[in-house]
Amino acid sequence: MAGRLILVSNRMPTEAQTSGGLVVALQGALHDGNGLWIGAHPDFAEKPSEQLIDMDKGREGMRYARLAFQLSRQEHEDYYLGFANSVLWPLCHRRGDLVSLEREFETAYLEVNARLARQIAELARPDDMIWIHDYHFFPLAEKLRALGVTAKIGFFLHIPFPALGDLGALPQRIDFPGWLSAFDLVGLQTRADVARCLEMFRAEPDAELMLNGRVKYLDRAVALRSFPIGIEVEAFVEAAGGDDLRNVLGTDMPGDILIGVDRLDYSKGLPNRFRAFGRYLERRRQTCRRVSLLQIAPPTREEVPAYRQIRLELEELAGRLNGQHAELDWTPLRYIHRAIDRNLLAQLYRRARAGLVTPFADGMNLVAKEYIAAQDPEDPGVLILSRMAGAAEDMEEALLVNPYDIEEISEAIRTALNMPLPERQRRYEACMHTVRETDVTRWSADFLATLQNLTDKVTKH
Ligand code: UDP
Ligand code: G6P
Repeated sequence: MAGRLILVSNRMPTEAQTSGGLVVALQGALHDGNGLWIGAHPDFAEKPSEQLIDMDKGREGMRYARLAFQLSRQEHEDYYLGFANSVLWPLCHRRGDLVSLEREFETAYLEVNARLARQIAELARPDDMIWIHDYHFFPLAEKLRALGVTAKIGFFLHIPFPALGDLGALPQRIDFPGWLSAFDLVGLQTRADVARCLEMFRAEPDAELMLNGRVKYLDRAVALRSFPIGIEVEAFVEAAGGDDLRNVLGTDMPGDILIGVDRLDYSKGLPNRFRAFGRYLERRRQTCRRVSLLQIAPPTREEVPAYRQIRLELEELAGRLNGQHAELDWTPLRYIHRAIDRNLLAQLYRRARAGLVTPFADGMNLVAKEYIAAQDPEDPGVLILSRMAGAAEDMEEALLVNPYDIEEISEAIRTALNMPLPERQRRYEACMHTVRETDVTRWSADFLATLQNLTDKVTKH
């Protein structure tokens, strides 16, 4: 690649602990130093600024340069908490009931995208490749094109693409076809996401579906493809074999452990997971087998009411479950509302007999892939995986469950804990094959090579 790679995402890696899939994956993707990463500054500005801030001035040894755009408090509320996380996030995660109907949110969202476009247009050169990430920036390419930027622009959506029928929950029509067709390449997590995106274009009289996965809309053409995201497999396998956990605890953890690791998001299906574990415990009362669920659920977007509510619901369920089932010397549910370092996580996954990943909707879910990668091939644990997670599309050998069906999840816990070694190994190997195939370094190389090789001359701009 001759030019630079310019990555754009709302969240950027900072010194503080981060716990979202996007940053984890992109850090794995930016391997050479010839890149810029543009993202939001952690602090608010008095008033919106037209200048990007160099976050790494004077710092040595950075693999890439970080440039930050700064939001005002009001923009944070209307663009980030508002349109991104109270309109688009619930829309894409099939929670039309949680979509905010506040009309000003879209205005702020478009304004932040327009300002960022001006800042990027200042520094972008024609031979750069611009790779924009996630739902915070659907309109960014359209704004960049309007400013005359001719560089190749790709987009990757980390979350599910919404179904056509769900768009009716929005406060006003939003211009997905116009926004998406300004990119050269739109990458989605799964084949099902691509099908939903095509369905949306098909409903547009001005859209023409072409061969080879392209869509022509008005005078632009965009390529659509799935690129299932993954993890840095070898690094994770190595981390899982380390002994930080024993050093931290000073001893091994007793008993059979189930593990769940999720931001405390309503899309992750945590209340049903707790209920299913409670159901499992009720059934197992008569035996003396002690099984604990370790649930790590760091806080996220707590200024949005729906997130405060899910936290209260979960705390109540956790209290009730332990009140009902705990013994003097045993607490069945350990619920940690804090982020845990990923090296430790890797070792906790390996220690757990089963991993519970039960979202109602999820773009991919990296935790599912991390759980598999962390297992000891000689004695692997079992992944219990929601059919609604993107990861389920290519991991059919996990124990697939319906996340709404508490009985089925509880039964899957029982099956996982009693599964004979040969079956555990067979399932692990099949899942591990997928995890390796989708290694994040391959994922980003594949996306960038596809973007680079697009030669379409269907009139742009
Ligand atoms: N994670 C972490 N510490 C935590 C919780 C999560 O490092 O305490 C990481 C986790 O290992 C995974 C990512 O955050 O890499 C979560 O990604 P996923 O795709 O599962 O969900 P998302 O948060 O993006 O919805
Ligand atoms: C998901 C989204 C990311 C986001 C992350 C954490 O992974 O796809 O775009 O960064 O969650 O959420 P936050 O709102 O804290 O950035």
